[in-house]
Amino acid sequence: MIKGKFIVIEGIDGCGKSTLIENLRKHFSDAVFLREPTNGQFGTVIRKKLSSDDILNADEMLELFLSDRAEDCEVNIFPALKSGKNVIMDRYYYSNAAYQGAMGLDCREIIKNNINRGFAVPDAVLYLDITPVEALKRIRSRSLDSEQYEKLSFLEKVDSIYKKIADDKYFFIDGNLSAEMVLQQALKKLGEIL
Ligand code: TMP
Repeated sequence: MIKGKFIVIEGIDGCGKSTLIENLRKHFSDAVFLREPTNGQFGTVIRKKLSSDDILNADEMLELFLSDRAEDCEVNIFPALKSGKNVIMDRYYYSNAAYQGAMGLDCREIIKNNINRGFAVPDAVLYLDITPVEALKRIRSRSLDSEQYEKLSFLEKVDSIYKKIADDKYFFIDGNLSAEMVLQQALKKLGEIL
């Protein structure tokens, strides 16, 4: 039986997810913090692909992310939730729908595919909402490396798909706010759930 709560943090690259998660760690020291792509066998391949010029097609990427998630559910997510731990997750299947959707696949089919595989279903999704232009500014100011996904037109597609697939689990947080304000909004929402 699942006893813990499963919280997912989502948003386009540059939305401030990493800062929020670092801040949440200080408030929820008992929670299990995970991220996808993982550091497992499939996640490692994915990260290498994302930072190289060796571009895979959308179907190949989808398969890799699904394999990574299957392993993550089995090894990390379900065991933690079953033991009563709350899990706070940096990206999950909404990323799959938004990013591989932006690569040309059907976003709703991707969500169905994930659910049909029996993956853990989130209790809430904290969505950090920021414009693609602002996100790209942030990305470029901190790094010269450009991952495949960080082009404006691509981020615009990702952003619009994230909004198209938004369900009643989504809680929107304005990602343009200060890190402290973003944290306060997240804590307020998490206070209702955890
Ligand atoms: P991150 O380390 O900033 O979260 O970046 C991981 C990248 O992986 C990000 O650009 C989104 C992408 N991604 C997908 O394309 N599909 C997925 O299913 C997941 C979880 C991530």
